[in-house]
Amino acid sequence: METVVSGIRSTGKLHLGNYYGAVRNFVQMQNEHNCFFFIADYHSLTTHPTPSDLHGNIKQVLVEYLAAGLDPEKSTLYIQSDVPEIAELYLYMNMNAYLGELERGASFKDKIRANPNNVNAGLLTYPVLMAADILIHHATKVPVGKDQEQHLEMTRTFGNRFNNLYQTDYFKEPFAFNYSKDLVKIPGLDGKGKMGKSEGEMNAVYLSDSPEIIRKKVMKAVTDGGPTQDNQEKPQEVQNLFDLMRVVSSTDTLSHFEELYNKAQIRYGDFKKALAEDMIIATQPIREKIEHISADTVLLRQVAKHGAAKARESAQKTIKEVREIIGFRNF
Ligand code: TRP
Repeated sequence: METVVSGIRSTGKLHLGNYYGAVRNFVQMQNEHNCFFFIADYHSLTTHPTPSDLHGNIKQVLVEYLAAGLDPEKSTLYIQSDVPEIAELYLYMNMNAYLGELERGASFKDKIRANPNNVNAGLLTYPVLMAADILIHHATKVPVGKDQEQHLEMTRTFGNRFNNLYQTDYFKEPFAFNYSKDLVKIPGLDGKGKMGKSEGEMNAVYLSDSPEIIRKKVMKAVTDGGPTQDNQEKPQEVQNLFDLMRVVSSTDTLSHFEELYNKAQIRYGDFKKALAEDMIIATQPIREKIEHISADTVLLRQVAKHGAAKARESAQKTIKEVREIIGFRNF
């Protein structure tokens, strides 16, 4: 059993791509590993959300992950800012992080290029906070994508530097966790790449979208003029819709439309209607849970409290040990 830590960005609703990718893996992982999942709300302060946006975003993320199947009894599910020990470890780790290496971080450079008027120190030290998130629970596995590899490498660097400075082997090295090799590919509706990759609201189907919105989005999905000969190869945008159908529909429905396509008799209107209805059915249980959980303040309060207590127990032990190693001692 490994100790797993993953931070969830506190902005952004879950779409089908998140669900069939990362989130379903999290749900599996919690049965096999010692998992800490948290909503990374300290990190979100780099972009200065308003107090009500901040709170609303945290709530939405918590609700949607619970609805998608994260179980507060199986994993430790918490809100980062409920665990002030993380901020304390962040302070200590900042002493071992150098300006040059932080400035060279690829995502720091991306962010300052995109927002030259908001180059704050929190953005610069984002990787140090992420290291604190991971090291506080001595995680060895971190389920993140390619874009976070460099941050993980920095986490190993900061941990090793601490170990060298104090001549200990206290912190373990965490590595990326490829939990499932064959990730389901969820394309977007705009005929291009993965769902959620491009910004447009119409490209992604969210778990919280109503049936009417799902129908509207799918009917507007990009297609070509249709096949003109038998067994014609599908253009990317049409293949994407078939890929989506493979995920949400029965094999009968899928092969029915494959056959029509191959006989050049497909009507995209009918095809999209079937796809939209099956998408609505596939997401129905989660959509209902989102509504229920969202209205259940007592449950949310209890989940947050329980998660914070479990996370703090682990974090307080680390902070106590780190303070001893550093040399803070009682008189
Ligand atoms: N940086 C991660 C992201 O953008 C979120 C994150 C914050 C995280 N702290 C973490 C991920 C710790 C894994 C472990 O997605």
